[in-house]
Amino acid sequence: MKVLFIGDIVGKKARNFAQKKIVDLKEQLQIDAIIVNVENAAGGFGVTPSICDDFFLAGADVLTTGNHIWDKREIISYISKSERLLRPLNMIKGTPGLGMTIIKVDAGTIGVANIMTNLFMARTDPVFEKVPEILKYLKLNNNVDFSLVDVHGEASSEKMAIAYALDGSVSAVVGTHTHVPTADHQILEKGTAYITDVGMSGDYNSIIGMKKDDALNRFLHPNNKKSRLEVSQGEPTLCGVLIDSDINGLSKSINPLRLGG
Ligand code: FE2
Repeated sequence: MKVLFIGDIVGKKARNFAQKKIVDLKEQLQIDAIIVNVENAAGGFGVTPSICDDFFLAGADVLTTGNHIWDKREIISYISKSERLLRPLNMIKGTPGLGMTIIKVDAGTIGVANIMTNLFMARTDPVFEKVPEILKYLKLNNNVDFSLVDVHGEASSEKMAIAYALDGSVSAVVGTHTHVPTADHQILEKGTAYITDVGMSGDYNSIIGMKKDDALNRFLHPNNKKSRLEVSQGEPTLCGVLIDSDINGLSKSINPLRLGG
């Protein structure tokens, strides 16, 4: 299967650009499934029901998120009913929404899990304890033809360790959250496609998608509670990876896709 994963969408310009590109790319590259991380899609903080609907309408199959999932409160009732919008699996018991899902697309069945790491991140349950749960739910060549885990986190080492723990059992492990694309895309020893961070879809003339002066002021004046971060308004670059999997569900290739900007 050919699957496109698009990294963290930051703000309106990036989401309009991504939605347009999803439509084009799906046809041009004959993509079987599209997964998008949308946790910063609404003005840089969170996501709304109508933004999710727009992505699904454009052709996205599953949406993933991370630490900003609850920034827009209206998403709570939406995610409670959705099988295609995920929040991190390792949020405390009783949290609304799903952390894993299995859906059908024309080319087969895909499974997606969304987890959040522990180092330098908001508190969640220990992420490594969720690996057996993922492996029990997403079984390649059994209940899914392709499986992807979005590892939302800051520390590269932790993301790589998760990928090593999942190698050979899922089709792909992709990192999100830092908003900076890494150049380490590879097929791991046992056949899992991996990249430490896909990178954001947003304005790269910025500090991780936000206006530079605002972000700099945050560092210069950390106690100024009035300083707000705003989405940088330059032209966005879309960052994603294109993953090609084999008949056995493991991956043949992972290639970065960077458009615009
Ligand atoms: Fe994040």
